[in-house]
Parts: sequence; structure tokens; C-alpha cells
Amino acid sequence: MNESMALEDKYLLPTYEKFPFVLDRGEGCWVWDENGDKYLDLYGGHAVAAIGHSPAEVTAAISKQAAKLLFYSNLVYNRARAEAAKALVDFCGEAGSQVFFCNSGAEANENAMRIARSVTGRAMVVVAEGGFHGRTAAAIAATGLKYRKGLAGLGADIVHVPFGDLDAAEAALEGAAAFLLEPIQSVQGATTATISYLQGLEALCRKSGALLIFDEVQTGLGRVGAPSARHAFGARPHMQTFAKALASGVPAGAVLVSPEAAAKVKPGELGSTFGGGPLACVAISATIKAIVDKKLTENAAKMESLIRSTFKFPQITEIRGRGLLLGLVLDRPSKAVRDALLAKKILVGGADDKSVIRLLPPLTVGPAEIGLLRGALAEIFAAESVAA
Ligand SMILES: Cc1ncc(COP(=O)(O)O)c(C=O)c1O
Repeated sequence: MNESMALEDKYLLPTYEKFPFVLDRGEGCWVWDENGDKYLDLYGGHAVAAIGHSPAEVTAAISKQAAKLLFYSNLVYNRARAEAAKALVDFCGEAGSQVFFCNSGAEANENAMRIARSVTGRAMVVVAEGGFHGRTAAAIAATGLKYRKGLAGLGADIVHVPFGDLDAAEAALEGAAAFLLEPIQSVQGATTATISYLQGLEALCRKSGALLIFDEVQTGLGRVGAPSARHAFGARPHMQTFAKALASGVPAGAVLVSPEAAAKVKPGELGSTFGGGPLACVAISATIKAIVDKKLTENAAKMESLIRSTFKFPQITEIRGRGLLLGLVLDRPSKAVRDALLAKKILVGGADDKSVIRLLPPLTVGPAEIGLLRGALAEIFAAESVAA
């Protein structure tokens, strides 16, 4: 075994299943291991590297900021924080929306639930089965997947209803503070809500006085071929949560709050030492600027069309998702095909739905890289039929 792998295995808790190589550097859609071998990264560091790996815009911005002021808390004003919040509101929010910065997706969801509870004065949060919202207490209680196992004591004030079922949502929303939902359930397998479900949920929330929260940790910031799922599905949530791509890999999370809900948040209710720190904030501004300037949202939509029109394999029974958050559903478990792609030095993701290959590439991905994946799948499927 390689020395770096042995060191990690010795000193870190064995909580993750890892790709069997040691990553050294990355650029655009490509990463290199310690031996200098090059991999096409269509997993994007789990949807983080939206503008590519180690993008020059972000590395320059954080180097400059680090030399100027590495950190000060939220007790002082800071230009970098102001500009990052404006960039997020301008790109994903609406006039009058306001931002709370934190450090991760789980924290963003915790804070969104907290805001909903204090704004409505109610306790219950309704979530959809199959969603993934993070690993901290309320976020894991809201997560409707296997990850909640063994945590029975948590989440007395969270109720799970079937994804897509408006009647169940209506019954559960009676007296509830919020409905928290991933519009595309990525970890589950890119299971995608219908527009009528999302718009129906919005209407039910407004009727019952609950707040609608979209977990946009994966769907946000251009990935779905629109600035966010709110834009892609035409539904207006009271809050959206962001992380992953937000600062291109510098830890950052955010709750984007609509004007009507923001007006009811009281001073002192929320807080975070590191959230909104200057380093993350310059990375957020540089990331959003690159997504807008390079028209990466439009590219995500174009690459989705290319994949849908050219991945015509009998082994792929369905393509779920939107933009560059896609699930290729196979007619068998996806593991062997993912392993065969890895042998060809192409990284893709799995999902809780074992038949799914998840694609979450940088939004800078182009026809050449999509063609490499298509060609690799063609070879793998052809070899299987020879073997069969
Ligand atoms: C949709 C969604 N929400 C929340 C989270 C949690 O984010 P984090 O790991 O930054 O806490 C994830 C992480 O994969 C996610 O996919």
C-alpha cells in the first residue's frame, strides 16, 4: 500500500469509502494522483468544483485576502462579506433577500430550520423521504435515508412524508413551521421533483403559514442549468440553503432568506464564528463571478442536452436530474460499471439507489470530456456483451 494511504488509514477514523489513489493536484475537469496519473473528474469533488479544480480566480482572490486579513469575526463590518452576500442575492435570490453565512450544508439547513421555527413560533418541520440534508443533529434527523439509522432519539419535531405526495404534505403541514426539501434528491439517485409538486408545496406552505425551504446545497449556483432550482422549477421558497460549490472548496454555507421571512428574523438569533469570514467570502464572490461571466449555467444546460441526446445505450434505462446533476439509471447495479470507468481513469459517483451513476462534473465540462465518458461507456458495455 502507498505510504500516504497507510498514514491516513492509521490516523483517521475509517468513516469514508475512498477511491484507491492519492490525489495530488487538480485543474479544470482533471485531477492528478501522486504518481502523475491523470483522471477525468465527472464527480467534481462531490459537486464542489463547479468552476473547475483550483480555479485561478479563486486562488488569486484567497491569496490576496489571506495576506491582507485572514480573519475577523462578524462583530465588525467587512467589504468581502458585503460583496459575497450581494453576489449571492443578485445571482440566486430576489430584490430584498438577505443572507446568513455559515460553514457547511448541514449548518445551512440547521439555521434555515431554526429561522423557520422562530419566525412561525411553531416547532414541527416536515421533510420528504429520500432527502439528504447533512450530518449534524437536526440535519441528520431531517435526512430520510439510511444515514439516520441508530439515531432514534433525534428529531421528535421532524416528520417524514413520501416524496411527491401532496396529500401527505398537506396533512403534515397543519401547524408546522416548515417544509424542507431537496428539489432533486441527489444522494438518493438524482430523483427529481415535478414542477407541479414543488409549486403545490409552495401553495400548501403559504396556506398553512409554514415556510418552504429548498436545500440547494447541490442544485444551487448554476448546476441545474439555471441559477438555482427555484429558477429551474418556477417555485418561490422562503429560504434556500447553499454550500458545496459556493466557495469552490473553501468551506462555506449560506441561507438565502426571502424578504418576507428576513423581515421577521431578530438580532442575536443566529451566529457563527467562522461563517462569513473574509477568506470564504472572496472565494464566494470570485466563484459566482466566474459562473456568470463564463456562462456556466448555460453550459450546464447545453451539456445536459448533449448527454441526453448521445447516451443512447440499452443499458441506460433513464437519465434523471437536470443540468449537470444527473443520474444515469442502469438496468443493473452500477458498481461494476463505475469500477470499469475508474480503470479507464474516469471518476463518477454512486448513489443510494444502487443502479445509478451520478454525474456532478465541473460546469466547465465540454463536449470533448462528455465524449470521453460516452466512448468509455460504449467500450464497457460492448465488452460486457462479448463476455455474456
Ligand atoms: C443536498 C445536501 N444537503 C446538505 C448536505 C450537507 O452538506 P455538508 O456536508 O457541507 O454539511 C449535502 C452533502 O452532501 C447535500 O448533498
